[in-house]
Amino acid sequence: MTAPSDLWSDLATKSLRVPPMRELFDNDASRLWKHTIDAAGLVLDASKNRIDDAVLESLFSLARGAGVEARRDAMFAGDKVNVTEGRAALHVALRAPRDAVFTVDGRNVMPDVHAVLDHMETFSEQVRSGAWTGHDGKAITDVVHIGIGGSDLGPRFVCAALRSYQNARPSVHFVANVDAHALDGVLADVARPFEAATTLFIVASKTFTTAETMMNAHSARAWALAGGVPEAQLHRHFVAVSTNTEAVRAFGIDTKNMFAFWDWVGGRYSLWSAIGLPIALACGMARFRELLAGAHAMDTHFANAPLEANMPVRLALLGILNANVLGARSVCIAPYHQHLELLPAHLQQLEMESNGKSVTLAGLPVAHATVPVLWGQPGTNAQHAYFQCLHQGTEWAPIDFIAVMAPAHAHPEHQRALLANCFAQSEALMNGKTQDVARAELIAAGASEVEAERLAPHKTFPGNRPSNTIVLARLDPSSLGALIALYEHKVMVQGTIWNIDSFDQWGVELGKMLAKTIVDELESGALGTHDASTRALIERARNPSPSPSPP
Ligand code: F6P
Repeated sequence: MTAPSDLWSDLATKSLRVPPMRELFDNDASRLWKHTIDAAGLVLDASKNRIDDAVLESLFSLARGAGVEARRDAMFAGDKVNVTEGRAALHVALRAPRDAVFTVDGRNVMPDVHAVLDHMETFSEQVRSGAWTGHDGKAITDVVHIGIGGSDLGPRFVCAALRSYQNARPSVHFVANVDAHALDGVLADVARPFEAATTLFIVASKTFTTAETMMNAHSARAWALAGGVPEAQLHRHFVAVSTNTEAVRAFGIDTKNMFAFWDWVGGRYSLWSAIGLPIALACGMARFRELLAGAHAMDTHFANAPLEANMPVRLALLGILNANVLGARSVCIAPYHQHLELLPAHLQQLEMESNGKSVTLAGLPVAHATVPVLWGQPGTNAQHAYFQCLHQGTEWAPIDFIAVMAPAHAHPEHQRALLANCFAQSEALMNGKTQDVARAELIAAGASEVEAERLAPHKTFPGNRPSNTIVLARLDPSSLGALIALYEHKVMVQGTIWNIDSFDQWGVELGKMLAKTIVDELESGALGTHDASTRALIERARNPSPSPSPP
C-alpha cells in the first residue's frame, strides 16, 4: 500500500515549522520523555531530532497510511511478503520459544527450528568439550567459518561483539573474500600456522552455490588433505550450514553434519539460524539462546506495541523524516563500544541490501528516495576522523549513537571518558555555536577584536543536527539480540513506507553473471564482447607488466 501523497505533503509542511531543537527543549519540560522509548532492555532517546508534536503525529499518519501494521502482521503470519521471490520472511520464528507457533504454507515451522537448535547445541558442546575430535583424536583448537554476505557478516559481527563471553578454545575465525589473502591470512598465519588435524571448517551458504564460498571451501579442503587429513576422515573437519542438501553431499560433507535452514530465512536475517553456529561454538549454546531471547523480546514489542510507543517504528520514522523530508543522504552509526566495531558493516548489508531498491512492489518507479548510504565506525576514533564534517560540513548525516553503560573491563576512567565523549557529541551537534559566542570566547581568551572577527566564522557550528542515542545497560547476548532485531524491524517499516520488497536482492545478480564470463576468459585466453575499458583491464590482468598500447 502506498501512503497517499497528501500525507507526505502534510509532513513536509509541518516539518518546515519546527523550531530549532534547543528551543523545543527550552519550551517543553516533557520533551525528553515524549521521545524516549524503553523496550527489550534498550532505551531509545530520540529527543534530539527535528520533530515536534505535529510532525510526530504526521509521521504516524504516514505509517498508518502505508499499512505498516498490516504488513508487520503479514510478516509475522508467514505470508509471502517477499513478493519477487514468492517467499515468507519469517526470521522472527528463529528466535521464538519452542512452544510458539509460526506457519509457512500452513505448516508450523517451530519443531524444525528447535530441532536444528538442539543439533547445534549437541555439536557445539562436543566441540567445546573436546569430545568431537579431528582425524587423529586431537580436540579441535580452531574453527574456520567460510561464508560471505549474510552467511558471514552476522556471525562475524556477533562473535566480535561477544568476545568477552568466549572460551579460549575453540578459537573462531572467518573467511569471506575470494581474495586468497583472506584464507591464507587465517590458515597460514605466520604467527600461528594452523594444524589441519585440529581445525574444523564450517561451510556456510544458503544456496551452496555462491562462487566465493565454494572456491574458499575447495581450497580449504585441499589444504586439509595436504595437511594430512585422510579423505575418508574429512567429515571430522568439515560441516555445512545450508538449505541445499544435494550440493552439500556433492561437496563431500556428511549430511549428518549439515545444519539446515529454510528459504524463508533471508541471508542478512540468518544469524539467528544455524548460520550462527560459530557463535554457539565461540560463546556456548546458552549464550546463543540468550541472544535469540533478546531478539524475541524486541519482536514481541514490535508486534504488540502501538505505533506511538514502538521503538523500531520510531527509529524508522525518524529515518524517513531525515532522508525524505530533511534531505539527509546518509546515516552514520557511532557505537561507543569497541566490541561493536563491526555493527556498521552488519547494518550496511541489512539496510542497503534490503532497501536499496528503485521500484515498488508492483514494479513501478518509487516516488521517494529509498535507503540512504549507511556508514560509521566506533567512537571515539570516528571523532578524530570525520566528525569535523558532521559538525561543520555542508553535508550532514543523522547519527545513531550506541552507548553502553557498563563496560566489560576494569578501567572506570576510560569508561567515563568514552561516555562523556558520546554524550558531548550529540549535545554539540544539537546546540552548535553561534558566531557571536565564538567571537566572545576568542576575546575572553585574549584575542584582539580583529583576530576574533577573522577566526569566529571558523569556530561557528550550525547546530540543530539530529541524532538518536540508543542505550544498553551492558553489551550482553540479550541486549545485542534486541539491538540487531531493532534495526531489522526498522528496515521492514521503512521498506513498507517506501513500498518496496525489503527481502529480495536482485541487484547483486548482474555483476555475479558478468564475473562468471570474465573468469572463464581469464582462464581460457578468449575475449568476448566488452567495452574498451573492460577489455583493457582483462588484458592487463593477463599480462600485468606492459601498459596496453594506444590503438
Ligand atoms: O550477495 C548476495 C547474497 O545472496 C546475500 O544476500 C547472501 O547473504 C550472500 O549472497 C551469500 O549467499 P549464500 O548464503 O547463498 O552463499
